[in-house]
Amino acid sequence: MLHQKNILLGITGGIAAYKCAELVRLFVKQGANVKVVTTKSALDFITPKTLSVLSKNQVISDFFDANNNWNNHVHLAEWADVFVIAPLTANTLAKMATGVCDNLLLATYLSCKTKTIVAPAMDLDMYQHPTTKNNIQKIESYGNLVIPAQSGELASGLVGEGRMAEPTDILAFTENFFKKNQKLFGKTVLINAGPTYEAIDPVRFIGNRSSGKMGVALAHEFLKQGAKVTLVLGPSSQKVNDKINLINVESGNEMHQACLVNFENKDVVVCCAAVADYKPKEVSQQKIKKQNETLNLELVKTADILADLGSKKEKQLLVGFALETENLLEYATAKLKKKNLDIIIANSAMEEGSGFATDTNKVILIDKHNKITKFELKSKTEIAKDIVESIISYL
Ligand code: CTP
Repeated sequence: MLHQKNILLGITGGIAAYKCAELVRLFVKQGANVKVVTTKSALDFITPKTLSVLSKNQVISDFFDANNNWNNHVHLAEWADVFVIAPLTANTLAKMATGVCDNLLLATYLSCKTKTIVAPAMDLDMYQHPTTKNNIQKIESYGNLVIPAQSGELASGLVGEGRMAEPTDILAFTENFFKKNQKLFGKTVLINAGPTYEAIDPVRFIGNRSSGKMGVALAHEFLKQGAKVTLVLGPSSQKVNDKINLINVESGNEMHQACLVNFENKDVVVCCAAVADYKPKEVSQQKIKKQNETLNLELVKTADILADLGSKKEKQLLVGFALETENLLEYATAKLKKKNLDIIIANSAMEEGSGFATDTNKVILIDKHNKITKFELKSKTEIAKDIVESIISYL
C-alpha cells in the first residue's frame, strides 16, 4: 500500500524508540522508501546500525557526518512524502510548539512542506500535564497530525495513558493519511508521451515537433495524487521524477510493445504521444549516399497504439488525445468512438498557445456520453491538473 512512498521517520529519545525497528520494517514491507533521522538521545535507546540495516539507508543524527559532510535537512524534507515522528518526547513536542530548532530533526521538521504525523510517548503525568496538552493542541493547530498515546503499563511502572501507539497502528494511520490525501492512492496509471523517431538509415529519422511536455506534466500530476505511474516516453528532454517508472523508447513500434506489456491491470491509460502514422518501409542498414536529384522514400502505416489498446480494453479508463487543424469537435468525437475510448482530449494546432512545443495548451474534454468540458488557455501543468481532476471524477 505504501509503494514508492518516501517516509522520513524521526526518532526522539524515549524508551519507545526500541519499537522503531519494527516500525521501519513494517513501512519497508509495504513498499515504502524509508530514511531515518534521530535526535542524539534517541541513539541511547536504539542503535543506528539496526535502523540503517532495516531502512537500507544511512541514519542521520547530526548536521555533519563523521567526515564533515553536510547532511542537508532541506533536501531530506523535500524528499519526504510524509514525516513521521515516533516516539515524540515531551521535550521535542515543546520545541515543535515553539519553533526551537536546535538539532537536525527539528530543522528538518521546520523545513517540511509535507504533513508531519507524530506519535507522542511519555510517562503518565507528563502526558497529563497542561503544558503537554497545550503543546499537542498547538502543533495540531499548525496542521500536524497526532496519533494519541495509548493506555497501558509504562516504563516507570505506572499504568495509564502515555504509551506510544503500536507500530501497526502508526502504519495504519500513515496508510490512511495517504488514502485521504491522495485521490489516486493505490491506483495504477500508464501514460505514453513525446514524439517517435522512425529510422530512415543509421543517422536519419522521421520525427515530429512534440516535446513530451503535456504527457510528462500529466505523469507528475498523477504521481502527486498518489498513483503508481508508468511513463512510456519517446525522445524528449523533459525531466522525469524518479518515482515514475520511466520506459524510454524511440520508435512507434517500441512504444507499442512497451504499452502492450504494461497495459494489463492499469486503472487509467492515457495516450498523448505523437506517434508517427507512417514509417519508412525499409530501413537502410548503411547511411544513404547523396546521388540523385530526388529521393523517394516509401512509407507504410504504423500500428495505431491507442486503437489497439481500445480493442483490448477491460477495466481500464482509456483516454486519448486528438490534435486537429479543423473540425475539432467532430474529428475528435469520431476518434473517441473509433478507438473505443472513454475520454478524448481535443486540442487545436491552429489555436494560439496550443499544441506542440508550447508551454501552454487549450483543451476540450469529450467523454463517451458526449459530455463536453472546455478549459481555458493555461500552462500545461495547470491543464494536467484539470485533466487529472476530471479523470478522478470518472473513476
Ligand atoms: N495514436 C496512436 N498511434 C498512432 C497514431 C495516433 O496511439 N499510430 C494516438 C495518439 O496518441 C492520440 C490519438 O491516437 O492519443 C489521436 O492521434 P492523432 O494524431 O490526433 O490522430 P490519428 O489517429 O493519428 O489520426 P489523424 O492523423 O488522421 O488525425
